[in-house]
Amino acid sequence: MSERPVVIGVAGGTGSGKTSVTRSVIQRFADKPLLMIEQDYYYKDQHHLPMEERLKTNYDHPLAFDNDLLIEHLKQLIQEKPIEKPVYDYKMHTRSDETIHVEPREVIIVEGILVLEDERLRDLMDIKVFVDTDADVRIIRRLMRDIKERGRSIDSVIEQYINVVRPMHLQFVEPTKRYADIIIPEGGQNHVAIDLMATKIKTILEDRSEK
Ligand code: ADP
Ligand code: C5P
Repeated sequence: MSERPVVIGVAGGTGSGKTSVTRSVIQRFADKPLLMIEQDYYYKDQHHLPMEERLKTNYDHPLAFDNDLLIEHLKQLIQEKPIEKPVYDYKMHTRSDETIHVEPREVIIVEGILVLEDERLRDLMDIKVFVDTDADVRIIRRLMRDIKERGRSIDSVIEQYINVVRPMHLQFVEPTKRYADIIIPEGGQNHVAIDLMATKIKTILEDRSEK
């Protein structure tokens, strides 16, 4: 690698399509493996807490994340050093014992509901993106995903959404839209916006290699 990696932040509400957008961008770089870092994997470790306590955690508040570790890892990757990326278990509500060895790459996409909330994270990013999808669509997507993939019941998803996710979204996630360079409506199916993101990343890489 000849230049500092390009770092892109992809924020947006739960179910907005952050992961889908990130995967679609990655697919447009067949010859160059991009790296995805999920902020969710950096939820604070809760091994020491019993399950009933873990269920009470507010997972939509900035303090739920170990951003210090995320920032340390991003800085290591920017310095072209490998990291041991944590793995998160949504069913156990904590990190799993394993980690994944991750080598640095030329382009790093860090995605998560609150990646634009922390100024230290924003300062590391070359491009800041906010995926903007209506709340009704997001809750339907989340309901389906959390039941299928995250071991939740309909009642628990609805209860958590009304009491925690929605108010935290309005307080902490939505206001970070102001920091975005690009706002992508409707997430993963917005091929024009995804093409624009990919083109911008290629331009930054080309400009850097010409210097
Ligand atoms: P986020 O990372 O913002 O929570 P995801 O990309 O994981 O959002 O999408 C949440 C759920 O909605 C996933 O199950 C995904 O497959 C689905 N999904 C995402 N985008 C679309 C879309 N455009 N149409 C239909 N389903 C979608
Ligand atoms: O993938 P997505 O952006 O939806 O992930 C963030 C969401 O995951 C948050 O809104 C949070 O409520 C939820 N979450 C959860 N249980 C956990 C960790 C996160 O419901 N243990």
